[in-house]
Amino acid sequence: MRQYLDAKQQHRDAIVFFRMGDFYEMFYEDALTAARALDLTLTSRSKNAGGSAIPMCGIPHHAADGYLTRLVQKGFRVAICEQVEDAKKAKGIVRREVVRVVSPGTFTEAGYLEDREPTFLMGLVVQRGVARDRGGSGTDLDRYGMALLDVSTGEFAATEYRGDTGRQALADDIAVLRPRECLVASDSEWHSLLPDAPAPAVTAVDPWLFDLERARHALTTQLDTAGLEGFGLSDRPGATAAAGALVHYLRETQKAQLAHVRSITFRETADAMVIDPPTLKHLEVVTSSEGTRAGSLLGEIDQTVTVMGSRLLRGWMLRPLVSLERVHDRLDGVEELAFRSVERGKLRELLKSVHDLERLVARAAMGTAGPRDLVALQRTLATVPRVRAILDPLQAPLTGSLLAELDEVPDIRDTVEATLGDAPPALARDGGAIRDGVDPELDELRGISRGGKEQIAAMEAAERSRTGIGSLKIRFNRVFGYYIEVSKANLHAVPDDYHRKQTIAGGERFITPVLKEYEQRVLGADERILEREIALFDALRDRVAAAAGRIQDSARALANLDVLAGLAETAAVHDYTKPHVHDGDELLITEGRHPVVERHVGHGFVPNDVTLNASSHQVIILTGPNMGGKSTYLRQVALSVLLAQIGSFVPANRAKIPITDRIFARVGASDNIARGQSTFMVEM
Ligand SMILES: Nc1ncnc2c1ncn2[C@@H]1O[C@H](COP(=O)(O)OP(=O)(O)OP(=O)(O)O)[C@@H](O)[C@H]1O
Ligand SMILES: [Mg+2]
Repeated sequence: MRQYLDAKQQHRDAIVFFRMGDFYEMFYEDALTAARALDLTLTSRSKNAGGSAIPMCGIPHHAADGYLTRLVQKGFRVAICEQVEDAKKAKGIVRREVVRVVSPGTFTEAGYLEDREPTFLMGLVVQRGVARDRGGSGTDLDRYGMALLDVSTGEFAATEYRGDTGRQALADDIAVLRPRECLVASDSEWHSLLPDAPAPAVTAVDPWLFDLERARHALTTQLDTAGLEGFGLSDRPGATAAAGALVHYLRETQKAQLAHVRSITFRETADAMVIDPPTLKHLEVVTSSEGTRAGSLLGEIDQTVTVMGSRLLRGWMLRPLVSLERVHDRLDGVEELAFRSVERGKLRELLKSVHDLERLVARAAMGTAGPRDLVALQRTLATVPRVRAILDPLQAPLTGSLLAELDEVPDIRDTVEATLGDAPPALARDGGAIRDGVDPELDELRGISRGGKEQIAAMEAAERSRTGIGSLKIRFNRVFGYYIEVSKANLHAVPDDYHRKQTIAGGERFITPVLKEYEQRVLGADERILEREIALFDALRDRVAAAAGRIQDSARALANLDVLAGLAETAAVHDYTKPHVHDGDELLITEGRHPVVERHVGHGFVPNDVTLNASSHQVIILTGPNMGGKSTYLRQVALSVLLAQIGSFVPANRAKIPITDRIFARVGASDNIARGQSTFMVEM
């Protein structure tokens, strides 16, 4: 119990999973909380010094992931306290340590994550009155630093905001990004920044974690760099503090190297089109008015075939580009793939077999990947040369640079393939993951184990003929090990050298000294086989983690190619046109359609034109009957601009779109375009 109390002392804010044999046990308050949250039966343990019973409950360790998922979903943190030495070799009580703390923003089990959405841990820092007002009024503004890390992929970014407008922009970003967990200094005023619903889990930590020097140190160590200039963070104390605190927190709680977190991007708010949360909602960009992906713009145009591509496209839609050059690059890439239908078809077919490389490599880096994960990773790397071959004839510069980033990481691919069997178990501890011929020591142990089993089989035959008992069997169970079983009718023929071990309903069980000798050989070897396999697997996983950077480059390139091909597919199938995006002020769309509504009204959709510019057509006042199509018209203009600036073709005959830095839209709150109901209809 002392060990437990020590662990609890260090992790007061978490439920402690205390490993005892095949179970994780919880005690005291933790037991009461977990029993309620997980519907577990509460029991009690021998009385403590005061004479009262200690409440406890437990879960089998092999089912832990499911229980962890449920607890984390409810917003709890869990500290996992493992036996860190072999129970058989330990003198006295086995040493235990907290090996990992899981929380809503750091948990990465597949059952907890959404395949097609990121999972963000966010660091927030408020620095009061420290930023100079660049407008010249001379007052000091507050500075806000925000960092964002998707532990499941290693995506890492930071931003800074200043003053009251910055504060609003930050609040908007938080509402859009929907972090699973926010890390804040316990003494900071974070309450007013966070949305009420859905409220992210908040983890308040010691303010010194956000101390600039400490944060800089944590960052440079993690990113393995001397200075932060290369990441655009040199003069960004807010962003640096937030990012450094995140890294520190993660390393503390995950106790892993996090080799997949190896670079950070500084995001300038002005680097992307701003779409505030109400606009996103009213335009139904990533979720429909019913909160589903289906019926939204994303649901309509997402033709990606990998989950990585799907996540990336969603990211593009939340941050459309404002750089003319980058928009053109993407549009050219999409255009070529739209025309090259053969290559596009082949590519998309091939990409269907691509696994979630980003999350697989992250699992390797966090030490949670199993043999099946590494095989999936290896098979995905093996598709890379074929992707390159298919796209080789293409000429768009973006496609070319993506192809150049593709790396099949041949050393890792070949090593994994040579080491792991074709259909390995999910976990290394299940045994049988490593191929024969990989490791001489393992092969020798397997030889001993097989030899022992053959000897036991031979012994069964020999004993049958010696005793004349045809039904004599040599069997195995965990309690007795190997034993000889003889049925009741044959007990008279049992020789003297059999030692009776147990009586069962149909007969009796015996052992002999020779049998026990074979058994020791087999069991000793089996145990060492498993140890050796786990050691070999861990070494392999570490090698994969060490190559995380190259694998991530490939993953990113594959995701980008998937998105470009997906947008091309949408353009080709739904007859979209390439917009002419320019830095003037003229917006001109002929025969434009609403990408979602046109799908629901079929061929009956009536296309509309629009002309807007800074001189003669600054405003449109649109009137018309209820259910006349006003809201649809307004939205389709906004959506076409958004689509153009993520690099997509647009639903129109012709489109000329000026680079736009912000979209505002407010539409009658409750109309439902996918169902064909206008504001008036709903209100009726
Ligand atoms: N261009 C179009 N072609 C065909 N059908 C359309 C078109 N525009 C809108 N519709 C259909 O008409 C329905 C109503 O459109 P919308 O919501 O835009 O009307 P509204 O003018 O905004 O009405 P209200 O004044 O009640 O808000 C849509 O849900 C859609 O089914
Ligand atoms: Mg309307």
